[in-house]
Amino acid sequence: MTFGVTLRERRLEQGLSLTGLSKLIHYSKGHLSRIESGDKRASEDLARRCDEALGARGELLSAHRTGSARRPSRRTSRPPFQLPPGASHFTGRHEETDALDAAAARPDPARGGSVPLVLIDGKPGVGKTALALRWAHRNAAAFPDGVLFHDLGAYGPAGSAVRPDEALTAGLHALGVEHGAEPADPRERAALYRSLLSGRSVLVVIDNAASADEVRALLPGAPGCTVLVTSRSRMAGLVARDGAERLSLQPLSPAESSLLLARTAPSGLRDACSGTVSALAEHCGLLPLALRIAAERLSAFPPGQLDGVVRELGEPEALLDFLDCPDDTTASVRAAFSWSYGRLGEDAARAFRLIGPRAGAGMPVTDAAGLLGVPEAAAARLMEVLRQNNLLELTAPGRYRCDSLLGAYAAELAVRDQRRTRAGARSMDASSRSSGNTDRPRRLSGDERNFVARCTHPISRPRSGRRAVPLTKARHSAPPRRRTPTPPTT
Ligand SMILES: Nc1ncnc2c1ncn2[C@@H]1O[C@H](COP(=O)(O)OP(=O)(O)O)[C@@H](O)[C@H]1O
Ligand SMILES: [Mg+2]
Repeated sequence: MTFGVTLRERRLEQGLSLTGLSKLIHYSKGHLSRIESGDKRASEDLARRCDEALGARGELLSAHRTGSARRPSRRTSRPPFQLPPGASHFTGRHEETDALDAAAARPDPARGGSVPLVLIDGKPGVGKTALALRWAHRNAAAFPDGVLFHDLGAYGPAGSAVRPDEALTAGLHALGVEHGAEPADPRERAALYRSLLSGRSVLVVIDNAASADEVRALLPGAPGCTVLVTSRSRMAGLVARDGAERLSLQPLSPAESSLLLARTAPSGLRDACSGTVSALAEHCGLLPLALRIAAERLSAFPPGQLDGVVRELGEPEALLDFLDCPDDTTASVRAAFSWSYGRLGEDAARAFRLIGPRAGAGMPVTDAAGLLGVPEAAAARLMEVLRQNNLLELTAPGRYRCDSLLGAYAAELAVRDQRRTRAGARSMDASSRSSGNTDRPRRLSGDERNFVARCTHPISRPRSGRRAVPLTKARHSAPPRRRTPTPPTT
């Protein structure tokens, strides 16, 4: 039943004329008449006023919302298809695709009719979005009511994050709710979103989410839909509470990496010495983002120089400089890593700086405790936070590893931190000398107090019995000088 018909019925039940209703809700009699006859569409405000004036307890409001949502406007008469294009030269991921097929495509009776929900998690640039898009494009036909794509932009340049509520509103529009007709109350918006998805077969892709709560706000309620989520976070809660199937994405295999380079790097690389392609793949940590950027950057060099360039990329810091398209922050390994690092709390960030460069071969919790100067339980907790953020991986119980690119990035941060600390020490020294009063120390500024706290932090004073690995000896330590290969200028 349309909103207009329901309105007329409720009005007549109350013995109200159009004039009477018009006086109660302050809309003209003519306008109300056209709404009842279906010639005009009611606004949310009018529907709400009618609902209240006629004591309809939400019936009119919901008739209005469902009607405006289901009405096939010219713009939305086709099911939504919001997927952005997939990655070009998509390579490998056969096993992962099979796993996705198993988890996402078929409704599993063992799930008790709940919505299939798959979480693809992994480190920055490992190819989560590329895999989700690949699968979604290939399987879109199985979802006759369309595909929604929510890019939450949680890990990205400042200001790129989208609130789940904004994503939900965009979803309502994609499902046919006209702009301005969405409920004002967030809970009502969420309820309408779920009502519109119920009974439909829609694939919902939630990309680049940071927390389980963000994802929950966008989950359909009834079976029929399938949800794919990508995140750098392992979202333990989404698995534990919402029954998400986790697919933890690893870097490509060496063979897949070489194949991707062969497809995307300049043809000269294929003619380079044997071993150059696989060495480059190794330098890039088999990480698709790094491989794609390296392939692009190599195109600036003449074929004869490629062997030498790849050799120079064995230096971690030169590598990070190289893996950076200066005009595009989304094509920079350093920037991609920084969006994960920037979300860490202070303690976890410090743990990453100290552990990351030294954990290329894995580091036991006991060593981390010594390095950080904290009890083992606290070190274990911090390492677990880093693992939950895919900045460390668990290689054996109580032992964590940091991959080479992330390790190089952590080393860079640690060196920067040390430089800042030294500069802070020098400026404090100078200011205490210039104050001319050595008997009575002047009050410390907030910044200085913070600095002292950092200096007295046990970075340089590991607890007895534990030796901190010096940064310069660390496997992924940053070199003192930079030798980023630069292409010839002519
Ligand atoms: N399997 C793949 N084949 C080819 N390119 C890929 C593959 N996986 C990822 N890429 C490319 O690597 C880059 C990073 O991938 P992306 O999916 O954005 O990473 P993530 O979402 O894990 O941060 C993108 O440019 C993407 O096109
Ligand atoms: Mg992504």
